[in-house]
Amino acid sequence: MKNVPRLLEQFTPKHYDLFLAPDREASVFNGKVVVTADIPKPTTAVKLHAKGLNIKAAIINGQPVGSSLAEKNDELTLTAKEKLRGKAIIEIEFAGKITEHMHGIYPCNFELNGKKKQLLATQFESHHAREVFPCIDEPAAKATFDLTLTTPVGETVLANTPPRSQKKIGDSVVTSFETTPIMSTYLLAFVYGEMRSKEKKAKSGVLVRAWAIPDKVSQVDFALDCAVKILEHFEDYFRIPFPLPRCDFVALPDFASGAMENWGLITFREVALLVDEKNTSLDTKQEVVRVIGHELAHQWFGNLVTMEWWDDLWLNEGFASWIEAFAVDLLFPEWRPWENFVSTRYMSALSLDALEHTHPVQVPVPDPEEIRTIFDSISYNKGSSVIRMLHAYLGPEDFQKGLTHYLKQHSYKNTTTNDLWSALEQTSGKPVRKFMSVWTEQPGFPVVTVAPRQEQIELEQTRYFINPRVQKKKRDATVWPVPLRVNGDDILFDKKKGALSKPDSLTALNTGATGLYLLNFGDTLDGLAVRLPENQLERWTLLHNSFQLAKGSFLSTDKALDLLSRYSQEDNLIVWELISSQIGHMVRVFEDKEIRRAFRKLSVRLARKQLDRLGWDPKKDEDHFDQLLRPLILGLAAFGREETVIADGLRRFEAAKSPSDIDADLRSVVFSIAARHGEESSAYRKLLGWYRSARSAEDREILGGALTDFKQPELVEKSLALITTKDVRLQDIGQWVSGSFANRHAKQATWLWLKKNWSWVEDKLGQDMMMSYFPIFVGRTFATQEMLKEYDAFFSKRKTPGLARGIAQGRETLEWQMLWRERDIESVQRWLGLSPLY
Ligand code: BES
Ligand code: ZN
Repeated sequence: MKNVPRLLEQFTPKHYDLFLAPDREASVFNGKVVVTADIPKPTTAVKLHAKGLNIKAAIINGQPVGSSLAEKNDELTLTAKEKLRGKAIIEIEFAGKITEHMHGIYPCNFELNGKKKQLLATQFESHHAREVFPCIDEPAAKATFDLTLTTPVGETVLANTPPRSQKKIGDSVVTSFETTPIMSTYLLAFVYGEMRSKEKKAKSGVLVRAWAIPDKVSQVDFALDCAVKILEHFEDYFRIPFPLPRCDFVALPDFASGAMENWGLITFREVALLVDEKNTSLDTKQEVVRVIGHELAHQWFGNLVTMEWWDDLWLNEGFASWIEAFAVDLLFPEWRPWENFVSTRYMSALSLDALEHTHPVQVPVPDPEEIRTIFDSISYNKGSSVIRMLHAYLGPEDFQKGLTHYLKQHSYKNTTTNDLWSALEQTSGKPVRKFMSVWTEQPGFPVVTVAPRQEQIELEQTRYFINPRVQKKKRDATVWPVPLRVNGDDILFDKKKGALSKPDSLTALNTGATGLYLLNFGDTLDGLAVRLPENQLERWTLLHNSFQLAKGSFLSTDKALDLLSRYSQEDNLIVWELISSQIGHMVRVFEDKEIRRAFRKLSVRLARKQLDRLGWDPKKDEDHFDQLLRPLILGLAAFGREETVIADGLRRFEAAKSPSDIDADLRSVVFSIAARHGEESSAYRKLLGWYRSARSAEDREILGGALTDFKQPELVEKSLALITTKDVRLQDIGQWVSGSFANRHAKQATWLWLKKNWSWVEDKLGQDMMMSYFPIFVGRTFATQEMLKEYDAFFSKRKTPGLARGIAQGRETLEWQMLWRERDIESVQRWLGLSPLY
């Protein structure tokens, strides 16, 4: 394995004076950087990172030097005639290109009063600063920055810090920004163009502003309110003032990920920040709070204290992904964000980490190309789930104290996972490292078998692999410290086998779904199913565990179905999310007409009670969860071909002159009913028309989803063809492709499309993390031997460092789904034929 050479050791930057003059029309920029640095060992050659730059001149300590830019490892070597050592001042003039790829400096396109407009924005994480200026582009290479930007007159210019001075020169304005704090290159940012903002002050005096393109500024109020409240709370919780005088939140029309925590200049895709009370669904609104909480937390955890290297990326992302729920809980406790956490992050951690081709939370990153592949479910979801387990283990006070200690001790510096454990150990006096190291250093998680005896329960843990072929070939002797709750007491089960005195409740062993493991109750499940637990998270866990066990051949699928059939009285949102996703998954994997028909019936029967209760029409001032549950139940009923639901959906679709005539929470069900059951060509035309004229990013997402949901082959093709046109923004390609794969009428065509357009996709998304999900989209869509062969034939030649892990994960998913199908299809058929319902 090769290793990314670290450049910091031979050249330590202290300060950058960076001058940039982008030219929007020509899509290029000119720049000059003056780096004050230390060269610790005598040498004639120093290396910096640079990528795709045209180096025009380089000077070290006043003397011109030679330069050569190598593609390999993005290294710019400067060679002096005489040996250099100690303090050095390096000046480099360069030029670069502005491309649409949404990293480095990139354009965001929008229209204002019918005119085409463009913002220019930056995205430097993980290692794109080097595409804009020569630098040591490593998180540990912290320095201060003085940025000077030349931009057209009349535009708003934002950067990490407030402007120090502005000078008008001809048609341009030259803005010099105040010196930044000591920070990593990946956090540097600027945005300029036509934008408008609203602002508020936090109690501590920090100015908070929320920005959008001019005609969307009316949609920033909700975000602004949340941002101020969360910022105030974090100042209090971390016990460290916000490190800058001002914090900007900017909604960008084009954006690669969801949001980015640039210090003092947080950028978002529009759906993640803008809320328009009439046109934003509650679900999206919830996301907005969560994303703001996440990025604001990074301002301390990540920006003030930063991981030493990308192998500890999880520190950043795992922590922020945990505390986002904490932040939502503070503003909207009635939303019960920890349930949402279980249904999203926790569940997805258990799903990816069940593969042989998972990786430990702390993961070596030997190749720079691999950096982007670790912004994955393990770093975010297992990372945050592990933090949640630790928070429960330490209790809120010790956790908070340790955190403050950690942040204060390492402010403006870099850390490893170990530093966090040390701080928490110091303040709590508990063996944090001992508890956590297995969870973060080893891949996977255990399944704990619980066998009740007379007075006791016997316990045994083994690593859970969802793929039976892996179970056969792989021995994993890892023993995890498993937190169990026994009659109100916390116990750590940290042996392979053991016994406990019998608890009052078996389903409460993993209460709150806090522990990252599965419980296998064996035959005891039958008894537990008869009287479902009263606690919703215990009901969730029981059902979730049973399906995971069935998929991994620890339990026959009929048993999981027996359990499922007892959930018709269910009223909890996340349990319904689970029911609906499991039915969807089975229909996809078993792919059989009879099975599908039987699942349709089962869905309606299960959903009946909630359907009758909720109906189509939102009630005034209704419960948060009812509002979210309604579209889910209607969707399940529509899948079940419940005639009145379909008729009502179609009626709403036909009556609507524009999307805003339909309640924001119901748009997505109505559109998908229209796609599946409407008069196809007129429905398609209407949806496409709305898509093309959609002003809201959320509407565009939902309409895009509906356009990939048609069953007629010619419409499937039509939508696939749209992906490569201007109709689909680069930032939305992933959603279109995964949406199209999720449509069973489109999946084969999508596979052909992907193979045919692979080099186009690579060209558009090759540098983006989205790319590594593509093989996973394919893998989870299919479950047959034949497709496994096709998968291998196509992907075995494409295992680049950036794709290899995704390819292995996609393949493994396809394989275990195939084995599940082969093993249980008949018993599922039989079960559905009898299909009891309690
Ligand atoms: N630091 C990331 C953004 C990022 C991701 C940059 C990948 C470069 C590569 C940011 O903090 C983040 O995690 N954003 C999330 C949204 C968040 C609410 C989970 C995202 O973009 O998905
Ligand atoms: Zn993050």
